[in-house]
Amino acid sequence: MSVDDVTTAATPVLELDDVRVWTAEGAQLLRGVTWTVNPGEHWAVLGANGAGKSTLLSLAAARRHPSSGTVRILGRQMGRTMVFRLWEMIGVVDPNIRLPDELTASAAVLTGLTGSLRPQWERIGPDDETRAMEMLDRLGCIDLADRVMATCSQGERQRVRIARALMTRPRLLLLDEPATGLDLPAREALLAAVTDLRSTDPDLAIVVVAHHLEDLPSGTSHALLMAKGLAVRQGDAAEVLRSEPISECFGIPVEVTHRDGRWSAHALPGWNRSSAPDPVAVPTGDEPADEWEM
Ligand SMILES: Nc1ncnc2c1ncn2[C@@H]1O[C@H](COP(=O)(O)OP(=O)(O)OP(=O)(O)O)[C@@H](O)[C@H]1O
Ligand SMILES: [Mg+2]
Repeated sequence: MSVDDVTTAATPVLELDDVRVWTAEGAQLLRGVTWTVNPGEHWAVLGANGAGKSTLLSLAAARRHPSSGTVRILGRQMGRTMVFRLWEMIGVVDPNIRLPDELTASAAVLTGLTGSLRPQWERIGPDDETRAMEMLDRLGCIDLADRVMATCSQGERQRVRIARALMTRPRLLLLDEPATGLDLPAREALLAAVTDLRSTDPDLAIVVVAHHLEDLPSGTSHALLMAKGLAVRQGDAAEVLRSEPISECFGIPVEVTHRDGRWSAHALPGWNRSSAPDPVAVPTGDEPADEWEM
């Protein structure tokens, strides 16, 4: 039975119910997260370093099992389904993956079909090549098609990575800090391309993990704030991305502004670093050890 056999247009893309993740040593990475992502929603996940954002994404990507609680992806419960069937429905943009320097951008996008680092040409047909060009065009970088990755800027590479993640027509796109390290024009081009996916792929659900509100695309519809492994606030972006919830989440008084669909935040005058709370520490629990890495 394929993933499509158990999903309808209304099936949530992602459903986490009281999800906990702990390590063999007992460190608690997630401490009871309940979260639902529906088709077409664009989520921002924010939180301090170590809050558990990337751990959450690895569950959403079906790359890790929860220690307790349930994770359903497109109606399929993790632990009761063949995960590789889910992988092609989930596009993951991981900045740690370095696409080989000698690949052209179009070849790099084609690797998304097989999730490999090099194109498996025997499995690639003319339709796939057409789709790769369409995805480069969708990300505003069709002119890069014949350029080798070695000569692409950081921002160009990041857009190629997103095009690559879209090759399999995923229902869920996961981006972990996509704007980190990009200069202003590159960041703006990247965020505009992500925002444009709302019109070209209206049912695609997107989750963007970010450290800064300035790094959120203007199409962001929902937000989840994390602290110390907990989902401390979630809901409509307009409700959650405000001064009070953001100040509470990061533990410093900030003023959030929302203009032309974009957000920004700055610390209130008078705040200084010496009055900041201690960095987030993940508490050690007494839960039993569990296998969580697949
Ligand atoms: N295998 C592991 N063993 C022990 N602790 C871990 C392990 N993996 C992650 N952690 C810890 O769990 C916490 C959450 O990690 P995670 O990578 O999810 O945070 P994050 O919110 O993505 O942080 P950042 O903003 O720095 O990327 C961190 O304190 C991290 O050090
Ligand atoms: Mg992280």
